[in-house]
Amino acid sequence: METGVAPFLAYLLAAALFIIGIRRLRTPETARSGNTIAAFGMTVALIATLFVIEFESLLLIGAAVVLGSVVGILTAQRVQMTAMPQMVAAYNGVGGGAAALIALSEFYHLSEEGSLGVVAGTTIPLTVLVGSVSFMGSVVAFSKLQELAFTGSVTFPLQQVVNAVLFLGILVLAANAFLEGEILPFLSPVASVIAVLFASLVLGVLLVIPIGGADMPIVISLLNAFTGLAAAASGFVLENYILIIAGTIVGASGTILTRLMSGALGRPLGKIIFAGIAASGGSKQEELGERPVNDVSASAVGEYLSDEANKVIIVPGYGLAVAQAQSVMKDLVEALEKGGTEVLFGIHPVAGRMPGHMNVLMTEVGISYEKLLDLEDVNPEFEDADAAIIVGANDVVNPAANDPEKDTPISGMPVLEVGNAERVIFIKRSLSPGFAGVDNPLFYDTDKTMMLFADAKQGLEEVVEAVKNG
Ligand code: TAP
Repeated sequence: METGVAPFLAYLLAAALFIIGIRRLRTPETARSGNTIAAFGMTVALIATLFVIEFESLLLIGAAVVLGSVVGILTAQRVQMTAMPQMVAAYNGVGGGAAALIALSEFYHLSEEGSLGVVAGTTIPLTVLVGSVSFMGSVVAFSKLQELAFTGSVTFPLQQVVNAVLFLGILVLAANAFLEGEILPFLSPVASVIAVLFASLVLGVLLVIPIGGADMPIVISLLNAFTGLAAAASGFVLENYILIIAGTIVGASGTILTRLMSGALGRPLGKIIFAGIAASGGSKQEELGERPVNDVSASAVGEYLSDEANKVIIVPGYGLAVAQAQSVMKDLVEALEKGGTEVLFGIHPVAGRMPGHMNVLMTEVGISYEKLLDLEDVNPEFEDADAAIIVGANDVVNPAANDPEKDTPISGMPVLEVGNAERVIFIKRSLSPGFAGVDNPLFYDTDKTMMLFADAKQGLEEVVEAVKNG
């Protein structure tokens, strides 16, 4: 088809819009417009593609676009902020699966025509492999996060050996497809690629089932990078430039995010993927309730804060998001500041259930960005703080993460060193551990820690009342 230069200029514009959009995601002030700019770029790319590709039915394409848009809009509007990782996992998986299926159908057409070249012959099996692993890995990640199946760490003997054999088998099948059945004469090239697809689906399951606990955000970001790679590879297959560009951007940004997160959490990527660190789930439950804790009332907390605290550091976590207690949190900040207390926030990179979760909640209610300190900046501040108030968080403040005697799903993860404050005040409903299922020794430090057992919103409301009256 003779297309002219216009669609390619449109692709260039779309690529520029993607990059400007991503750049604007760096700060909360420009993030919304960044998102809109990138979405506009994608619309430009979609329209330009209609002038580049040969298609049989505009109606079918239109129906697919409408269906995809409706599902996208409805799910994005309805999803709870705490369920964002599941949604990212689901969208990731769909992208990877689509790339794998497109590559498979292209392989079929090219081998029918007898025009399978070196580029298509190598990139198609690669796209099918990466896309299928990404699809099935994301399905498993979704099930784990939604607690539908595979919760915790699922392992079996010789798991790594099975994975390695499966991977080698996939390489042999891919080579057989490329060499038109020379290695396994009983398997046609198309049948070999179909076999690559199924074997890669199984590999996707096996790679993700052993991963659990604090490693899930890293896995999601890694699968995101895989999907980008699969999309870029399918761009080579279809000779479509914007797919190569967009896929490479996703692949590169996903890889950078994965490296940054595994670095920040002290979790080497090799250990996550190849070791399958156990997520202990509720196994610590039997230890709970045996040891005494300093169970206090909201008025006791309010009294301490009004009388003794000149500097307070608040650590928000997942429970704050569940209880939607951010607005009452703001009331507490105002009440404390009114009494002359300095208030800061300690924000851990994986607090909550998505990157930047706590920053979003805090800025939503107008808590100034300067008060939100990152892990490295806030840790030295605990030493002269009179109180660390931990609202609905556990893993991000759990000193067990850095106990060399313990091997837990969060071992090695840097945490907020709340124990260095004069007093530690937990507001949560029970002694349940957090996402990674690791009991927190700070709960039982009765000299230092006050446990206010309450829903975050209700507990904070009562503490605000007590501070105001104190
Ligand atoms: P968690 O360790 O999961 O602890 C949350 C705590 O909130 C629980 O101990 C729970 O205790 C409490 N809670 C739940 N509902 C509550 C409510 N209504 N009111 C008061 N408290 C409530 O949270 P965290 O410290 O924020 O750590 C995050 C964890 O999630 C990390 O392990 C991280 O790796 C993982 N993760 C993070 C992400 C990202 S990217 N942020 C994505 C996926 C997973 P009670 O039941 O006793 O109230």
